[in-house]
Amino acid sequence: MKKTTVFDCNIVHFPRLQNRAGNITAVQNGIELPFDLKRVYYLYDIPGGEDRGAHAHLRLEQMIIAASGSFDVTIDDGRNKKTVQLNRPFFGLHVLPGMWRDISNFSSGAICLVLASELYDTTDYIRTYEEYLNYVK
Ligand code: TYD
Repeated sequence: MKKTTVFDCNIVHFPRLQNRAGNITAVQNGIELPFDLKRVYYLYDIPGGEDRGAHAHLRLEQMIIAASGSFDVTIDDGRNKKTVQLNRPFFGLHVLPGMWRDISNFSSGAICLVLASELYDTTDYIRTYEEYLNYVK
């Protein structure tokens, strides 16, 4: 079977309905979202200079969205790395299972919205980069 790489993790452009009173973006299961949604979580009040992530997931698939502000997501498949700046609420980065990820350079007031394919599960995490490299080898 072909291994998933960072090049399979794409930016998705969600529809944006523009109105003089502001914009709206809707993300629907099975339509804009390429997996079944089981969990939503968001990171906020992130102190300047802090990084998040630094782990991989075995089964979890995610759509990462900058609901407000901006940040950089670096994904790594053990061979290739790709850094994407998310800075608009109508873009999502689709992160497939098995990617090491780091989220950094949060702007002040940034909100990192994550749509996730599984419930929270501590056994789904690879927590060290060394363990990750053994896993992808
Ligand atoms: P963690 O996944 O390590 O956060 P990050 O990768 O953003 O640095 O989670 C941080 C804490 O939050 C940890 O104690 C577990 C808890 N948590 C939940 O309880 N439910 C969730 O859905 C998530 C993502 C985290």
